[in-house]
Amino acid sequence: MIDIEFVRSRFIKHFDGKTGNVYTSPGRINLIGEHTDYNGGFVFPGAVDKGVTAEMRANGTEDTVMAYAIDLKDRVDFKLNDPAGPKASWARYIFGIALEMRKLGVPVKGFNIAFAGDVPLGAGMSSSAAMESCFACGLNDIFGENKVSQWDMVLAGQATEHNYCGVNCGIMDQFASVFGKAGCLMRLDCRSREFEYFPFKPDGYRLVLLDSVVKHQLAGSPYNDRRNSCENVVKHIQAKHPEGKFETLRDCTWEQLEEVKAEVGEEDYKRAKFVLGEKDRVLAVCDALNEGDYEKVGEMMYKTHEGLSKDYEVSCEELDFLNDIAKENGVTGSRIMGGGFGGCTINLVRNDLYKKFIEDAKKRFNEKYGHEPKVYDVVIGDGSRKLC
Ligand code: GLA
Repeated sequence: MIDIEFVRSRFIKHFDGKTGNVYTSPGRINLIGEHTDYNGGFVFPGAVDKGVTAEMRANGTEDTVMAYAIDLKDRVDFKLNDPAGPKASWARYIFGIALEMRKLGVPVKGFNIAFAGDVPLGAGMSSSAAMESCFACGLNDIFGENKVSQWDMVLAGQATEHNYCGVNCGIMDQFASVFGKAGCLMRLDCRSREFEYFPFKPDGYRLVLLDSVVKHQLAGSPYNDRRNSCENVVKHIQAKHPEGKFETLRDCTWEQLEEVKAEVGEEDYKRAKFVLGEKDRVLAVCDALNEGDYEKVGEMMYKTHEGLSKDYEVSCEELDFLNDIAKENGVTGSRIMGGGFGGCTINLVRNDLYKKFIEDAKKRFNEKYGHEPKVYDVVIGDGSRKLC
């Protein structure tokens, strides 16, 4: 986690010398359940021990925000009442969340903010959700007497992505960032929003991320196309079954998908097929975890990778290569994590194989792509909170 004093020293230096309050929110991993959130399915995320830390303070103005991105050494000032908002993509998260918190009844006025992060950008670990939930937590505390519920902050973060950043994401990332708990994964039903904490201490195994360092960029990207494909399939199924209510692919069966195969075309069919399979895999993983059967968990992870690569088509050469190396090293489970198009694989690996796997992955990836993948050992941490 980012050192509070580091953020504080910049906050003091870049503004009027006064201190504010400090808030932090994490990025996330996801064991299984990818691209299921916006399809009303299940996800299995956990918060990590890396995230975004911000110092914030009301500055007494009506609507002027003075913001400093410490890592980028970039300062942007803007007005909340100017509908255009700031241009810098990082500042749009601040602008967006402030307006979404206003919609929830929080009387947000002008404030100063300086923030830094240690969750890698574009690695599929939700650096953007970490920002949204950190800023939401701060605004709720400073202007809203903490009256906005955790779920409403999750939804405000998601709305920020939709309305100001161009990504029609689901709720997994913001949920994990707000509700995370040290040592626990969470199984969330994205339709009912019910969830449970699963203590995750796999005896004899560990989770490690390998970052291909291929930057994923979800804004205006094929991410939204995937979502459109899923919605298109649901529309066709609904038209064939006017008696039923089909909101998302969660409401659809394999048989119904087959019925519309010819009309929706091969691409949309394959994407929906992946989603239906992924829904079943998350439930299979829950059973396997309850029985301590990590080999089964791993088997499902490989199946997810295959589906994400061949049917959902969100992989890239580098991620497929990392997956192959995992398989060849006898790693229990490995797959693309997050939205895809770059970023990390998540690997469930037996302790005795860990060292050899990492060495082999670094060496072979370097030989092929001219740089090593980055390695992040997963530590499951707490969600959004005020630090001081
Ligand atoms: C991104 C989105 C999430 C989710 C994942 C894929 O991280 O923000 O809502 O759809 O991709 O599972």
